[in-house]
Amino acid sequence: MCGIVGYIGERDAKEILLRGLEKLEYRGYDSAGIAVATGDRVELFKEKGRIADLRAIVDPGAEGKSGIGHTRWATHGVPDVRNAHPHRDESGRFTLVHNGVIENYGKLMNVHLAGVELKSDTDTEIIVQLIGKFAGEGLNTEEAFAKTLGLLHGSYAIAMLDEQEPETIFVAKNKSPLLIGLGDGFNVVSSDAMAMLQVTDRFVELNDGEIVIVKKEGIRIRTLAGEPVERAPFKAELDASDIEKGTYPHYMLKEIDEQPAVLRKIIQAYQDESGKLHADAGALEAINEADRIYIIAAGTSYHAGLVGKEFFEKLAAVPTEVHISSEFGYNMPLLSKKPLFIFISQSGETADSRQVLVKVKALGHPSLTVTNVAGSTLSREADHTVLLHAGPEIAVASTKAYTAQIAVLAILAALAAEGKGMEPRFDLTRELGVAANAIQSVIDRKDELETLSFEFLEMSRNAFFIGRGLDYHVSLEGALKLKEISYIQAEGFAGGELKHGTIALIEEGTPVFALATQAAVSANIRGNVREVTARGAKACIISMEGTGEEGDQMNIPAVHPMLTPLVSVIPLQLLSYFAALHRGCDVDQPRNLAKSVTVE
Ligand code: G6P
Repeated sequence: MCGIVGYIGERDAKEILLRGLEKLEYRGYDSAGIAVATGDRVELFKEKGRIADLRAIVDPGAEGKSGIGHTRWATHGVPDVRNAHPHRDESGRFTLVHNGVIENYGKLMNVHLAGVELKSDTDTEIIVQLIGKFAGEGLNTEEAFAKTLGLLHGSYAIAMLDEQEPETIFVAKNKSPLLIGLGDGFNVVSSDAMAMLQVTDRFVELNDGEIVIVKKEGIRIRTLAGEPVERAPFKAELDASDIEKGTYPHYMLKEIDEQPAVLRKIIQAYQDESGKLHADAGALEAINEADRIYIIAAGTSYHAGLVGKEFFEKLAAVPTEVHISSEFGYNMPLLSKKPLFIFISQSGETADSRQVLVKVKALGHPSLTVTNVAGSTLSREADHTVLLHAGPEIAVASTKAYTAQIAVLAILAALAAEGKGMEPRFDLTRELGVAANAIQSVIDRKDELETLSFEFLEMSRNAFFIGRGLDYHVSLEGALKLKEISYIQAEGFAGGELKHGTIALIEEGTPVFALATQAAVSANIRGNVREVTARGAKACIISMEGTGEEGDQMNIPAVHPMLTPLVSVIPLQLLSYFAALHRGCDVDQPRNLAKSVTVE
């Protein structure tokens, strides 16, 4: 949520900043800006909309060797040029970008900035105005920066330029992600390693409460209190081609297509030479010591968690609860005696989940993060990490991370069962391979799904997804996908629950997508379909070999009944994709959303 870049070196800063912002656009895209130090002044360019809009207004003649940039997802103030970052203090000397939320900005304004006329509605401007004020009172820039940070409550990743010291970028971090990239004769700042892979693959992690003085020859890290910090860099294990669209029109389509390969990569990553599944011993021990698992997640990851619960309970006999992170932290249920908290997060940065991690750590409970991003905040702060190996997911609507999460949770549950000496219910490695092939065969039926999407969703204002058991969990994800990218109002329902109220919304032609992959409840879900079609609904039934009936709109290949979500979600992802495409929506960057939500 909001992306930050910075560059200091010998090259033209603006091009590196703009290219970095293009890679960070998934974090927010309602406005963007860059500031470039050109000799004795800092030139500012800001625009509403996408990075392409910003690029169009940047003066090609604004040559500078240092600069900072920002792409925004609005929290305080509407998305417009006034509220776009970078922001400046009253004197114009300091220019700053910020990702996060300053909770006490109103109080800081009243106490310290009476008489200062703000130029924006953002909490960010308060930070830069405070720095300007303290510098005006005689503090040097580093002192004014540190003093201001000491007053802030909330989350921040910050990069700042001082017009009087253009050979330095002042950087700080608390709760929001930020990395320093190291180069030969230059250094960079970035919310995410991906954005700066164009210039370096060596990065230094920052911890909360640290300040970094970045110059082209080197960096100096210190704590807020002034203690020096030494930290070795790490090499980002990312391939630049992973983050390119290639010949695909959208990242989402590329990521949908990657799912069979991701599944095979996961099988490989969690298999030893003899073909036996294995995973981090500490993580497995934590699962086996727990008397109850609490899965904490948001969005699509929460939906994967619902499927994960079935694995932990049915394969490993561990009672498991799944909670929405933004609710759990502020309304904690009675916990068991030996809980284990499993955080599922594609990005590893979701602030709603992180606040829970902070709270359960303070209570002394063990934690495990299942994430796609090694070194992410949730990974660093939890006791154990298990990786998804899905490769960078860039489209805002999550697809391959969902199937990867389900596969990895199945592996963890199967290994936990083995650790307890339980007989395996089935050969998971083999069945994941079967699922990978089944996913491929659904992906190969894109034309059919495009036709179905047109037939069922072209004219509709709303849509319902129903299922029972595992199909219910997938119907929630199907509905989320559709509303995220096509803006069609969509709801997922337990098949039996629809008639207890929501069936009132069914009208002539209302599309209802029914998943029917679960043999045990096949007759029931078909009964629910009859209830809605009797009231005019247009039903699209997606069944599986073995549960199919004449007239079903799609029949997917058979996979193990516990792994059906891996395959039944694929038609729903593609139906949503085509619905968004037909409506002319921005598939990869839907309105109002962001990929990595680093504010609560
Ligand atoms: C955002 C994204 C969703 C994602 C959710 C949780 O809302 O737009 O696609 O599912 O955050 O993200 P996480 O990175 O924690 O899985």
